[in-house]
Amino acid sequence: MTPGFERVCVIGLGYVGLPTAAILANRGFHVVGVDVKAETVSMVNEGRAHFTEPDLDVMVRGAVAAGRLRAAEAADHADVFLVTVPTPFTADRKPDVSFLRSAAQSIAPVLDDGNLIVIESTSPVGTTQAFSEWLAEVRPDLSFPHRDGEGAQVRLAHSPERVLPGRILVELVQNDRVIGGLSARCARHAAAFYETFVNGECLLTDARTAELVKLVENSYRDANIAFANEISMVCDRLGIDAWEVLRLANRHPRVDILKPGPGVGGHCIAVDPWFIIDSAPDESVLIRAARRVNDAMPMHVVAKVREAAKRFDSPRVACLGLSYKADIEDARESPALRIVETLARDGIGEILVVEPHAGGLPAPLDADPGVTKVDLDAALEAAHVVVLLVDHRAFAGIDRARLDGKAVIDTRGLWR
Ligand SMILES: NC(=O)c1ccc[n+]([C@@H]2O[C@H](COP(=O)([O-])OP(=O)(O)OC[C@H]3O[C@@H](n4cnc5c(N)ncnc54)[C@H](O)[C@@H]3O)[C@@H](O)[C@H]2O)c1
Repeated sequence: MTPGFERVCVIGLGYVGLPTAAILANRGFHVVGVDVKAETVSMVNEGRAHFTEPDLDVMVRGAVAAGRLRAAEAADHADVFLVTVPTPFTADRKPDVSFLRSAAQSIAPVLDDGNLIVIESTSPVGTTQAFSEWLAEVRPDLSFPHRDGEGAQVRLAHSPERVLPGRILVELVQNDRVIGGLSARCARHAAAFYETFVNGECLLTDARTAELVKLVENSYRDANIAFANEISMVCDRLGIDAWEVLRLANRHPRVDILKPGPGVGGHCIAVDPWFIIDSAPDESVLIRAARRVNDAMPMHVVAKVREAAKRFDSPRVACLGLSYKADIEDARESPALRIVETLARDGIGEILVVEPHAGGLPAPLDADPGVTKVDLDAALEAAHVVVLLVDHRAFAGIDRARLDGKAVIDTRGLWR
């Protein structure tokens, strides 16, 4: 380990922060993981992860047992601070940087000359500079790069996280990292830290560019999915199989259209484009249109289910999957969840939910007597209408004969 980076404080022990803390601790760093949730702190200190991710439990247990990872509710002195708190949007789709602001408040009292702070949270353009300003307000005794340039005592950079849930521990190490400093020296300092544990390439730039790069990546994926969704609706209108069209179009050597689906969920692709729209509303016409197309998809699925359910007197509707993508439990911004909630509110009939990655139903579905969580077998046995909402591996191999006589809406093309 490079001298000067021994102690790392990770602010926010969620899907990004906890795996990062565990990897660093297993590489020999002394890591303090900070979270505002007391329950998360005590679970981590017991050597347990508070969400499911392959190999994470083992890594956390090993790091805690070796005395190299401990969790706390307050930040402590360190050489490097990694900020991995949420950056959601508000009800009117403005970036909510309040978690970053409170992270700055918790770091400020323990900041020392020579410290490096890297914001990994997905951030609107200008956030790294704002973070530096927030710190400077509280610590007039230290110099900061937004004001004092290359010679500043504290260094700040933005390095957006690009991990894929389900592969987080692999991708944290293998992915290339974009590292944008508030000064060139900040970027070099941050790169020297990441190079101690990242196998991917460290690509240096300035902070504003790095912030926009992450937003562009996710807006690109959102627009590509919106295109696929729009094609699927065109195909519905024309009575053509959208999956066949997309399969054949993608055989063109320079065409790569993503898959259509019931909408776009998660805390990234469904959220980050709004940060660009907020910064440059007049210029982001396509990005906004893509959001509109993808946000409308759940209601298209609902309309199809309503239509299918009309064929039955007392319809039983099996909804397969609640998470926002395959083979994970995370249901943040999930279109599948929105669809099931809408169908339940509609009183469409008895709803049987199958979600192999979750223990129970989330609120308010758990309190709805018309919605029951069942296993796949029971759902296929009882349902008149089967709606595949998430392409979990567990749903791929079902005996197709079990769908005979049922109305089937396969939003993911899993059973084609
Ligand atoms: N999850 C992903 O796959 C992923 C991928 C790329 C980027 N990101 C980005 O990374 C950031 C973090 O995402 P996440 O999925 O890990 O979020 P998360 O909600 O899983 O975790 C964030 C954690 O921060 C804690 N927290 C909130 N405020 C805090 C504070 N002031 N001090 C200490 N802890 C605090 C929360 O309690 C929570 O445990 C977001 O900006 C997200 O967009 C996430």
